[in-house]
Amino acid sequence: MQKESSIQNRIDTTLKNTKLCFEPIFELVRGFRANTIPWVTCAKWTTGLTLGLFFKIDWYILSYTRFTNLYPYHPLLYKIYALSISTSPFWIWAWMQVKYKKDKLKLLTRAFKNAGLESKIGRLPNLISDFPLDPMTRKLRLTNAGFPVSSFQAQSKFIESELGIFIDEVKESRESRTVDVIYSHYPMATEVSYSPEDAEAPFEFKVGQTRANTIATSLQKTPHLLVAGQTGGGKSTFLRQLIVHLHLQKKGINFLLIDLKGGLEFSMFENRKNFVVVPHVLAAVVNLQNTNSLLDKRMSFLKENGCKDIEAYFKKKDKPANAPDLSRHVIVVDEAAEMFLAGHHAKSKEVQTAREMLSRIARQGRALGIHLIVATQRPDSKSLDPQVKANLTGVICFQMMNDSSSIAVLGNGRATDLPKVAGRAIWKNGIEMLEVQTPFLSSEMAESLLGPPDNQPTKKESTIKLVESANEKLDPLQTE
Ligand SMILES: Nc1ncnc2c1ncn2[C@@H]1O[C@H](COP(=O)(O)OP(=O)(O)OP(=O)(O)O)[C@@H](O)[C@H]1O
Ligand SMILES: [Mg+2]
Repeated sequence: MQKESSIQNRIDTTLKNTKLCFEPIFELVRGFRANTIPWVTCAKWTTGLTLGLFFKIDWYILSYTRFTNLYPYHPLLYKIYALSISTSPFWIWAWMQVKYKKDKLKLLTRAFKNAGLESKIGRLPNLISDFPLDPMTRKLRLTNAGFPVSSFQAQSKFIESELGIFIDEVKESRESRTVDVIYSHYPMATEVSYSPEDAEAPFEFKVGQTRANTIATSLQKTPHLLVAGQTGGGKSTFLRQLIVHLHLQKKGINFLLIDLKGGLEFSMFENRKNFVVVPHVLAAVVNLQNTNSLLDKRMSFLKENGCKDIEAYFKKKDKPANAPDLSRHVIVVDEAAEMFLAGHHAKSKEVQTAREMLSRIARQGRALGIHLIVATQRPDSKSLDPQVKANLTGVICFQMMNDSSSIAVLGNGRATDLPKVAGRAIWKNGIEMLEVQTPFLSSEMAESLLGPPDNQPTKKESTIKLVESANEKLDPLQTE
């Protein structure tokens, strides 16, 4: 009996040690997926250590300390040794993560005991994983130990102070009987007011506030933008402050605002110089056709002048006297699905034309100063043309209902882990992914910043004219 239990103990210890050996590998994989490995620091150390090996500094150190018998003279051993030394910065980082988790487990056990989350038979919630979602936010997965999620939520303030963290959200997965705690070591604002001073450089705009920094980009750096998220996330509010900001900052920008949800979101921009607001697919198609001919004109003008894009043209010294107006155009589509799905409001021919034109603007607009900003609740390939989506390099993704929608936008389920805070989003630019609180600008404030409307033709007049001319151009239209 005693022999059996000692064998069992040995097996347990071996399993535990094997698991411990694999832990750093899991940490590296997690870090790679969430892009939290400090690549620059690790790469610098790796380069330094590899150079050290190349110049045999290790051998000099060993001979100086009289440990040359430790030097791996066998070629195979040397290869293993050299690989371990040069990749050691990554392994050190991974081991630090393992240690961090072990310490966290100790703290958690204490916190749960103090918070009364210990069952009558002494069961405590157990740590399953604690991995980074982005450089500042982490997700803690715990077994629920038979407690409902409401018990965790009720104790969240207590757990926050015990662990010195800021909890964004506590949610449960009934099937796996686990609880996810989304948290950070840094506080995050639940509302960030719009301020024109936050992004003052030409064509620059603020994306949002992370836990530590203000994130801003510009039309040059991020020429096209996708704004995605479920209803009520904050897409239209984000578009409103972005349009107001770009307009106030550079009054010369021309806006084509396509609002296919009844024209209410953009009504404050009607009857203003530099703004065209269209509430119908047909009128949108006509305006997009105009934009496409502008694209052709600009392209041939730049070719004639030997410039690859408008930036190069602006830098050019000997500009022609009769140069056309090269001011930037921003096309904003609120609810792209209405534009890309044929139905009661749009016929298949209109939809097809709109798809082709938006796709061309997305592909060629950057160099010609024509930018596209598309907002959508539904990021699937039916509701948003894949070619258009592929060219929208900057992505703001508000909370998503399910993992598949989040994956369609961000490539992972990060947007489903966002707390239910209006204006909270993930900003993705290239491989960088950050949680941000987007700037809030109320409609009233936006209107007062814009000032009274100019004496431009009313929306109704311009829309009627556009629809009439669209009918001439697109007739006969096929109905779905
Ligand atoms: N950045 C923000 N900060 C604070 N509150 C916000 C923010 N953005 C949006 N909200 C609040 O959330 C509400 C819904 O926002 P909004 O209408 O922009 O959502 P939406 O994503 O456009 O929804 P839908 O898809 O239904 O049009 C707004 O009325 C506003 O009160
Ligand atoms: Mg909206």
